[in-house]
Amino acid sequence: MKKILKNLKEMEKFAESFANKTSDSKLAGEAVVVGLYGDLGSGKTTFTKSFVSAFGVKQTVTSPTFVIEKIYKLPKENNFKHIIHIDAYRLNSGEEMKDLGWDKISTDPQNIILIEWPEKIADILPKNTKKIYFKFVDENTREIIF
Ligand SMILES: Nc1ncnc2c1ncn2[C@@H]1O[C@H](COP(=O)(O)OP(=O)(O)OP(=O)(O)O)[C@@H](O)[C@H]1O
Ligand SMILES: [Mg+2]
Repeated sequence: MKKILKNLKEMEKFAESFANKTSDSKLAGEAVVVGLYGDLGSGKTTFTKSFVSAFGVKQTVTSPTFVIEKIYKLPKENNFKHIIHIDAYRLNSGEEMKDLGWDKISTDPQNIILIEWPEKIADILPKNTKKIYFKFVDENTREIIF
């Protein structure tokens, strides 16, 4: 499905509704993985901030560009225990993600894993990976395909 989001507020709403759907979509034996595709500044981290806060997390979400991976513990009332936010921009292969504990986090059904620049680690993405494509239209407008 394709949508035009005319401002931050609309991106926020989209992220919340995507979060609500995701919270009902547990898988057996594997994490829910969401690949966030799109250029620099297209809105992947902005989406993630609202997605994480929709689960009741009060902590501020910041870009994991320099640390690769950030883990948010979810409040008890949720179906999942953690959201793991990965920025694969600086990685060159799935192998490097494996070195960062990928097998353990991706096989835990209590995890939701959001990945920016998933194409960098395309070889290890599970076949159930949900995909969202973000595109810059103008300063305040983004197009998304999901
Ligand atoms: N409708 C919109 N949706 C999302 N972001 C928007 C929108 N309008 C303006 N912006 C701005 O665009 C920027 C998006 O930056 P963001 O860090 O989310 O991009 P990114 O896709 O994560 O980039 P990177 O690949 O560098 O990590 C933010 O400064 C945000 O405020
Ligand atoms: Mg980002």
